[in-house]
Amino acid sequence: MNPSEINYDDLRSLTIGTVESVSPREIKVLLDIHAPQNTALNTGTPTLFPKINGYVLLPNEAGALIGMISWIGIEHSDYPKRKGLKDFDLVDLPFPLRKMSISPLGILKREDKGYKIERGVYSYPSVGDAVVIPTYEQLQSIVENKDEHAKIKIGNSPLAANGPVYVDPDKLFGRHVAVLGNTGSGKSCSVAGLIRWSLEAVKDGIAPDKKPNARFIILDPNGEYTKTFDGISGKTRLFKVALGEGETGYEQLKVPAWMWNSYEWSSITQASGKTQRPLLRQALRAMRNQMFSVTDSTEVEVKIFLGTLLTSIKIEKSNGSPWGSFPKPKNFTEKIEKWQKSIENLLGRLANSSERIKLEELNTLLERLLNDRSGKYPTYEFDISEVNLIQEKIFDAFEGFGGCEQDLLVKSEDVPVPFKSDVFVNYLHALGKESESSQYLDYLLMRLRTILSDTRMSSIIGTKTGISLTDWLEKYVGKNKAENGEIAVVDLSLVPPDIIHIVVAVMARIIFEAIQRYKRKTSKLLPTVLVMEEAHNFISRYNTDNEEFSPSRLCSQSFEKIAKEGRKFGLGLLLSSQRPSELSPTVLSQCNTFLLHRLVNDRDQELVKRFVPDNLGSILNELPVLPTKKAILLGWAAPVPILVDMNELKKEHRPDSKDPDFWDVWTGKEERTINWKEIVDEWQEEGDNVDNC
Ligand SMILES: Nc1ncnc2c1ncn2[C@@H]1O[C@H](COP(=O)(O)OP(=O)(O)OP(=O)(O)O)[C@@H](O)[C@H]1O
Ligand SMILES: [Mg+2]
Repeated sequence: MNPSEINYDDLRSLTIGTVESVSPREIKVLLDIHAPQNTALNTGTPTLFPKINGYVLLPNEAGALIGMISWIGIEHSDYPKRKGLKDFDLVDLPFPLRKMSISPLGILKREDKGYKIERGVYSYPSVGDAVVIPTYEQLQSIVENKDEHAKIKIGNSPLAANGPVYVDPDKLFGRHVAVLGNTGSGKSCSVAGLIRWSLEAVKDGIAPDKKPNARFIILDPNGEYTKTFDGISGKTRLFKVALGEGETGYEQLKVPAWMWNSYEWSSITQASGKTQRPLLRQALRAMRNQMFSVTDSTEVEVKIFLGTLLTSIKIEKSNGSPWGSFPKPKNFTEKIEKWQKSIENLLGRLANSSERIKLEELNTLLERLLNDRSGKYPTYEFDISEVNLIQEKIFDAFEGFGGCEQDLLVKSEDVPVPFKSDVFVNYLHALGKESESSQYLDYLLMRLRTILSDTRMSSIIGTKTGISLTDWLEKYVGKNKAENGEIAVVDLSLVPPDIIHIVVAVMARIIFEAIQRYKRKTSKLLPTVLVMEEAHNFISRYNTDNEEFSPSRLCSQSFEKIAKEGRKFGLGLLLSSQRPSELSPTVLSQCNTFLLHRLVNDRDQELVKRFVPDNLGSILNELPVLPTKKAILLGWAAPVPILVDMNELKKEHRPDSKDPDFWDVWTGKEERTINWKEIVDEWQEEGDNVDNC
């Protein structure tokens, strides 16, 4: 018979079975003997009979409960009851009956136009209720996303009549996404696709002369995304470590050392808590307050110096050292002696002027007080009126040189005020000497000097070529209206391992703090997406009992903060990882949407099952066998868990992570020449390649 002559109306009976048992997680269904085997014609058009992870409906008073098939099998049961005449002479032998288990997912409701989905199940079917297969239209509505901004098509759903799958960026990026799967399963392509398809959808939705005002910052440890975004509206800003002269198309990656906060400094220098960390913090505070800004004017130098004296004397006074128990007064006297010598030195460089007189007065006072404490058995104690007098005279001189109270406000050691790292190291050295703890600082200073002077590192963290914080944010986060492009790709592949965690931690923290401040200032959110590839290397789980701040722990903590608070400020995370079980559980549990590719490892599968929010039934059992490019989308951005066949990315738009070409090299199709000497020379030279930071 010609298929077009089939009268589908005659065949239309959507019921395929009845409910046999119900529990909140699983509903067992007995399939009718006449239910179709493979191709179902009862939907009006031939459709594949639902298979594992396909959908069925259970009509009820609220609409229809959507169930996902998690098991189909045959069980031997009593011979089914027959209608009509019964032959009483026959013995009813066990009869193979088809059954299936389904996991309830949500409710499908009829609307004026089509259907809508409600998450969650509040009304369960009862035993004996009918189970029907959805029509084509219903299937499409199950995977269709009715969210207002669900404009980004990421693929099609093979188990739902190949209906298109749309996502809403507000939901997808607003509450963080994790793309998980084994190596080669298609994660990077999905990440690149989510960004590309988002921007393409925005372009389709705005006037042709306008550009998307979007911001994506991609932290790319393998350097795969260098060319991936060519051809989408604006230019991609590419940052990487320069290898040699003459390369173009990118900017040198810069995360200058002054951007680091005191924890980051402590972790990279492995500073110990007792002596080194307080000194490091003190030195940083001095830098942040620009007490050592390089200046040619002696007058300014005097003003800055007197400012530090004022702060110091206030601290000494509040500690009570000038009149405290031995050896505090002695140490205080020695401090005064050092101050007096410095003042004498400054006086030698100052021309005669009215303000000089004030400094001379201070000098004379200090000389007199020191004189009183010289001799064979001096008493070092000061009384409070003497200390007040010193403070008064310092302030007079400070004012004489143009200083005011405002200058004395002390900035915290963590504010990102630029300073030169060599000045910092020298100051720290001097501070160590002054506080007689230089023996504790030797190793730390050596480490610092090594890090700061290695050319491979100083090109990234060096402070020689100035970049202001404003410049940095404009470059890495983007300018007003994304004038300089929507995407920044930070290629981390050549960043030396010693500093890679600090570099990533600092970038993530500064980006988060900047976006946070944007909201504070404007009361508006600045939607920005931070993408972290190979996230298990940077956002790894750590032992919370251990107090040490290792750079990798700081890095995880930077991202944990974003995962917990980013949503309030419009900063979304897009993570990709092949080892979910090694990821920080805090970050993973804050991800509300998951795109799961093939995942073979048991531990990873178990972990993912624990973190995913929906009642998933068995769809996750498919994880180990998913083909490349297919993924399960679930969570906040998907109304029900959906198996998605991701859109095809053109070859030139795919991240560049080719498998090694063993065969072609072995057979000589591709040339490879080896010159180890060249490599060794470069390798061994690196240590000597010191440069002034
Ligand atoms: N959406 C897609 N369109 C076209 N090809 C794809 C797509 N997804 C995956 N592929 C193919 O699969 C290959 C591997 O994908 P991809 O590099 O994204 O894997 P991965 O999961 O990121 O692996 P790794 O963990 O090693 O980085 C790609 O080179 C590409 O050929
Ligand atoms: Mg990848």
